[in-house]
Amino acid sequence: KFKVTEVFEGISMPGYLHTQESLRAATNFQFQDTDVLLVTFPKSGTTWMQQILSLIFNKEDFQNIQSIPTWARVPWIEQIYLSNYLPQMEASKPRLFTTHLTANLLINNLKTSKTRVVYVARNPKDVLVSYYHFHKLAKFLPEIGSFDDFFDQFLEGKVNFGSWFNHIKDWLGVQQDLNFFLITYEDLSQDPRGAIQRLSNFLGQQLESKELENILHYCSFSFMSQNEQLNYSLVPPEAFDHSVEKFMRKGVTGNWKEHFSPEQNARFNNVYQAEMGDLAVKLPWS
Ligand code: PPS
Repeated sequence: KFKVTEVFEGISMPGYLHTQESLRAATNFQFQDTDVLLVTFPKSGTTWMQQILSLIFNKEDFQNIQSIPTWARVPWIEQIYLSNYLPQMEASKPRLFTTHLTANLLINNLKTSKTRVVYVARNPKDVLVSYYHFHKLAKFLPEIGSFDDFFDQFLEGKVNFGSWFNHIKDWLGVQQDLNFFLITYEDLSQDPRGAIQRLSNFLGQQLESKELENILHYCSFSFMSQNEQLNYSLVPPEAFDHSVEKFMRKGVTGNWKEHFSPEQNARFNNVYQAEMGDLAVKLPWS
């Protein structure tokens, strides 16, 4: 029996995947200089980037990695399952990790390492919509009520992993102290070739054109949504109700337009402006 919600340092997270102990371990995690850490707010393109990172670092072995789910290849440092995967990760460098945690919880250990940090951001309106549908799929998440209820909870930062706005501002605020790369879901959608090339330059990996073509194929929505190691269909039915939703739902940008009322959109824009107006970095949706 697990708690629905685990609260750590004021942020709520799914108790199905986290305990106080697993979260404390993440804040004490010893990063290595060769590690790569993928950072996302949930529903921002985590699985997509887990696949891309693991393709970039396993260019010679595309077939083999397809037999291991993304969550085992690029595990979350804060989840209870990390210890299942860590031993086998030592054999191949770099180690690839994921986190949804905010920077303040990890910065002390991160800033003393050369760990490459890849932050994937997505239009928060699409994050909200994807997150809403994910709550219908994942049985271990709290009841959230209607879309309108969830809309308010998201804007108030009262969802798992807290405020989208705080998450991105927290990480962008410490980027100077880190080996940091910002990439967006929208960049990946609009120009996957260019985005993956810039990413692999940051990672110090040269891609030959055939390798890049293969990566583009294996990270496409059409390939990933059909592959059981990548589309989360392996999650047991007691955790995911596969009959109501798919994890790989639409994989597009701008789906919020089919969910937001004009009034909700205006309200979202006001909050966005108040929270993000001073930010120097230009994001594709703003
Ligand atoms: S999680 O639960 O935080 O790990 O979810 P995450 O992987 O961050 O987000 C899931 C959304 O990403 C979409 N997705 C993709 N889009 C385009 N191309 C590829 N290859 C891809 N893989 C995953 C997935 O469909 C979810 O978005 P929505 O809008 O719900 O479709």
